Amino acid sequence: MAVLLTGGTGYIGSHTAVELINAGYGVVIADDLSNSEESVVDRIRMITGTAPVFYRADVKDRSKLEKIFAENDIEAVIHFAGFKAVGESVSEPLMYYRNNLDSALSVLETMKERGCTRFIFSSSATVYGMHNQVPFREDMPRSSTNPYGSTKLMIEMIMEDLCTADPSFCCVALRYFNPVGAHPSGLIGEKPSGVPNNLTPYIQQVASGIREKLYVFGDDYDTPDGTGVRDYIHVTDLAAGHLAAMKYSSDSRGFTAVNLGTGRGYSVLEMVRAFEKVNGVKIPYEISPRRPGDIASCYADVTKARELFGWEAGKGLEDMLRDAWNWERNRTASE
Ligand code: UD1
Repeated sequence: MAVLLTGGTGYIGSHTAVELINAGYGVVIADDLSNSEESVVDRIRMITGTAPVFYRADVKDRSKLEKIFAENDIEAVIHFAGFKAVGESVSEPLMYYRNNLDSALSVLETMKERGCTRFIFSSSATVYGMHNQVPFREDMPRSSTNPYGSTKLMIEMIMEDLCTADPSFCCVALRYFNPVGAHPSGLIGEKPSGVPNNLTPYIQQVASGIREKLYVFGDDYDTPDGTGVRDYIHVTDLAAGHLAAMKYSSDSRGFTAVNLGTGRGYSVLEMVRAFEKVNGVKIPYEISPRRPGDIASCYADVTKARELFGWEAGKGLEDMLRDAWNWERNRTASE
């Protein structure tokens, strides 16, 4: 028996592969390598002692999926594959809808045909939209402000409708808050292409001298220091949340959505100061205008994850930022 990870050589997928292999699961990865590298497969082996089975495959291609299901005994799918850059989704909406919706539909259709009924999906806190009050709870109304967020929301709706129509399915939407850090080995982590969109990858590149300074997007929000507050979670804690969801899905049915965060928010300036303190590097910054679409505060109510999964995040900001910097140095040294 094995778990299929679509997008499994990516940032969150690779850490989840490590977590699953360490817990004794067989892991099969399908990834088209559009935003990751095949060397990650070997790095997973270096960390765990076991290489996952790897297919270079675009999961929109049903024939490739059929082959993977025919050659492996797939008990569940964790679906990470998808485009994830908010700004790009605004300028290329059709590409985002085609890719993200088609991938999810193609995976679910193949699963249904094969009688594989456990589906875990990389959703996002972005589905809480602009109008809810923090902390965000799973039963709050959902909305989206950009095509990327709309694909997350639509896929959640597809999962709900499927579970209503076919009660043998168990579909879990994991709503990620802000994953940061890397595996403590420094062998796997996030590898942004081009200018990073997200805060910590940008800070890492300022620390390593690739970028001159950080632009802090707004200091006039209704938060303690005026800068945006987010719920940063160590990527290995997030990966452990997937393992907990796997266990939950073995004897549950129907649709459920679960927040994966720490329940604690930090501001942009708190992140900058913490990075400087933990790693002993200076991060020059400049206050710049707000980024369109940003909200002041975003953090999770983590009660449901604790109650349903018996899972909670264990690592703090220091671990996240130390491991992020360790990965950045390893990565840039090996390039
Ligand atoms: C962003 C996306 C969100 C997506 C998530 C995936 C937007 C508006 N939101 O979330 O939909 O699910 O990434 O990881 O893009 N910041 C700076 N300077 C920077 C970068 C960020 O000040 O160079 C600030 C932001 O204004 C924000 C915080 O840092 O307050 C975190 O930003 P980011 O890492 O981009 O995450 P989100 O905006 O939470």
